[in-house]
Amino acid sequence: MKKTRVCELLGIEYPIIQGGMSLIANAELASAVSNAGGLGIISPNAGEPDWGKVAENLRSQIRKARSLTDKPFGVNFSIQLIGEDRSLIDIAIEEGVRAVTMGAGSPALHTSYLKEHGVRVLHVVASVRHAKGAEKNGVDAVIAEGYESGGINSPDELTTFVLIPQVVDAVSIPVVAAGGIADARGFAAALALGAEGVQMGTRFIATHECIANQNYKNAIVAASDTSTVITGRGSVPIRGLKSELTRHIQEAENAGASSEKLLTVPSPESADAAVQQGDTVRDGVICGAVAGMIDGIVSAGDVVRSIVEGYDRIVAGL
Ligand SMILES: Cc1cc2nc3c(=O)[nH]c(=O)nc-3n(C[C@H](O)[C@H](O)[C@H](O)COP(=O)(O)O)c2cc1C
Repeated sequence: MKKTRVCELLGIEYPIIQGGMSLIANAELASAVSNAGGLGIISPNAGEPDWGKVAENLRSQIRKARSLTDKPFGVNFSIQLIGEDRSLIDIAIEEGVRAVTMGAGSPALHTSYLKEHGVRVLHVVASVRHAKGAEKNGVDAVIAEGYESGGINSPDELTTFVLIPQVVDAVSIPVVAAGGIADARGFAAALALGAEGVQMGTRFIATHECIANQNYKNAIVAASDTSTVITGRGSVPIRGLKSELTRHIQEAENAGASSEKLLTVPSPESADAAVQQGDTVRDGVICGAVAGMIDGIVSAGDVVRSIVEGYDRIVAGL
């Protein structure tokens, strides 16, 4: 597999990034991805639903990952959650983290601070306008995420297939494709569209190293092509598995419920009952449409290796 600018930027062998996932993206998962040649990402609240303990949790997750790999790994920050507060960012810098993925907010807030401290910044975008804005604010790469993806989605609802080539044409920094990618076919397609790497979330939840409850992983494995739905349109759109909960939310939405009422939708920040206790009925399972393609729980390293091996075969067969 040829090296792309994303490999050079991050000092990794293969341009495969494990997405930050609130509560879920733990040190064991991140280090397994990094050991396989990709870039693992830690979420500050991995395994810790109490936001009051997030600072010590982040430090201990970074130290644990460091004990499990000597390869680069990164940290994800949701700007919506941290706002202007740099205390978590400072912990990542102090602990020697060299790459950060950021989203859900303006790249103007923290990019130059991170870059002054030698940290590579990748910013999640879901439209050409936001990609251009991120480039203007000095980010090193954009992660262009289509609305197939699990978690919070953009109201613009652009699919990965139409978003990537338009973002690639609009910016000169490297573009990482996210949303709906789970195997070598998706990886090859993303590169064909002009991306120089991929970011995957849902695929990495169904792995041995991921901290999510077994019920959560099993629900992803059991999902079919039509199993996911977006709820929270008009407030915070989230993609997850269809359930009794999402049906209630949709009924409330159809009946014109207020956005306050709709804040009861499952969200990556409030999903601890599902992620930790396996109560997938009460909380719902947040994941991408690609869940329908995932038919087993494997090791995170095998996810990376199967993409690397499959890619050459696919390209040779085109
Ligand atoms: C359960 C879940 C939680 C997520 N939480 C975050 C998050 O905290 N920050 C973030 O930038 N992206 C988050 N994402 C998005 C992922 O990092 C990744 O971009 C996305 O999952 C890619 O789409 P895929 O699920 O189709 O692979 C989350 C995704 C999932 C499935």
